[in-house]
Amino acid sequence: MPVGDGRFFMSAATKFYLLRVRSLRRETADTVSVAFDVPEALQYLFQFKPGQYLSLRTEIDGVDQRRSYSICSAPAEQELRVAVKKVAGGVFSTFVNERLQEGDELLVMPPQGRFTTDLSAANEHLYVAFAAGSGITPVISILKSVLLEEPKSRFLLFFGNRGFDHIIFRETLEALKNRYPDRLAVHHVLSRESVGADWFYGRLDADKCRAYARLLFRPEEVDAYFLCGPEDMIFDIQPALEALGADPKRVHFELFTTAGMPKRETTASAQKESFDASVTVIQDGTQFDFQLPSDGSTLLDAAMRAGADLPFSCKGGVCSTCKARVLEGEVAMDLNYGLEPDEVEAGYVLMCQSHPKSAKVVVSFDA
Ligand SMILES: Cc1cc2nc3c(=O)[nH]c(=O)nc-3n(C[C@H](O)[C@H](O)[C@H](O)COP(=O)(O)OP(=O)(O)OC[C@H]3O[C@@H](n4cnc5c(N)ncnc54)[C@H](O)[C@@H]3O)c2cc1C
Ligand code: FES
Repeated sequence: MPVGDGRFFMSAATKFYLLRVRSLRRETADTVSVAFDVPEALQYLFQFKPGQYLSLRTEIDGVDQRRSYSICSAPAEQELRVAVKKVAGGVFSTFVNERLQEGDELLVMPPQGRFTTDLSAANEHLYVAFAAGSGITPVISILKSVLLEEPKSRFLLFFGNRGFDHIIFRETLEALKNRYPDRLAVHHVLSRESVGADWFYGRLDADKCRAYARLLFRPEEVDAYFLCGPEDMIFDIQPALEALGADPKRVHFELFTTAGMPKRETTASAQKESFDASVTVIQDGTQFDFQLPSDGSTLLDAAMRAGADLPFSCKGGVCSTCKARVLEGEVAMDLNYGLEPDEVEAGYVLMCQSHPKSAKVVVSFDA
């Protein structure tokens, strides 16, 4: 069942598995959601936490392509479903929206990601989310899970879109509001249609966030924030929340793309030059040795060229699928949008962004 080309080990959780598309549902004119059949034998691997994502892989026009998509279902719904919004000129999202059919098979990696929170029926929490466009996908999974699993918790969603027709999961959100009127509030913020109130017209940004914190919630009562949308929205609202007193550890965000984003701190500054290094990669207790040439290759690319089959998806430093730990030597990352400061501190790196800074490097996917 697992698919790899047998060149090198991959642990069960970072292998791709061929899953059949059980159903396709058109959510808006440019978004389709995709549910997968998960065979009984793989159920344990595809358990997920709300807010996690899947890496999908398939050949499109003769080229092997991989992209990540957040799961939009809640674990309690017993369904594995992602939603894909078509990006203009986008290879994978256009393929899913226009060519994928029910009954087709895609390669799918088991769920990953830290854009989540631990839920408990005893919690009496207030969660506040800011989502825009397809950024609703992981947020609706968390929102549904909170409503289903924490009977005393409340959820407040600010959801930005161009207009009503672009709102993904609009009917689902309406139905949830009707079912949980005292626990769920949804405020739509539209950039091209007026709803008659200035605070709900335009883009979600720091000014609106501050206004909502005056009018609609009290920051000191919020247990966790979830932000998912374009990077300018995230990096505008995140500092605004922190200025309002939010503990940074309680402000979770998920980035879908990397263009123009401020990067998280890394242990070493990005350095393009690199040099010959002898590299050992460990996974599932197996060791793979190769020589990395001084051509500026990342550890991931050089290892793949040398015959390894390592986990990766975005290759942009965002998804963390390629996360490994440096056991020996030094490594510098070009970009890091995926690892938390404590992970960097503990020696984790993104292989797709890493270059050796010492003659010998040992990295492990097992540690
Ligand atoms: C952890 C994670 C979770 C994600 N979850 C979702 C999800 O639930 N739903 C979803 O639709 N997408 C999601 N994405 C984004 C998705 O992985 C792809 O990046 C997106 O579908 C574009 O891929 P593509 O092949 O169509 O475009 P590409 O062919 O890769 O890119 C084409 C052009 O579009 C630009 N572009 C790429 N992505 C975007 C974007 N999101 N918005 C605007 N321009 C873009 C590129 O810069 C490029 O110029 C997620 C990404 C990550 C890392
Ligand atoms: S492959 Fe996404 S961070 Fe490296």
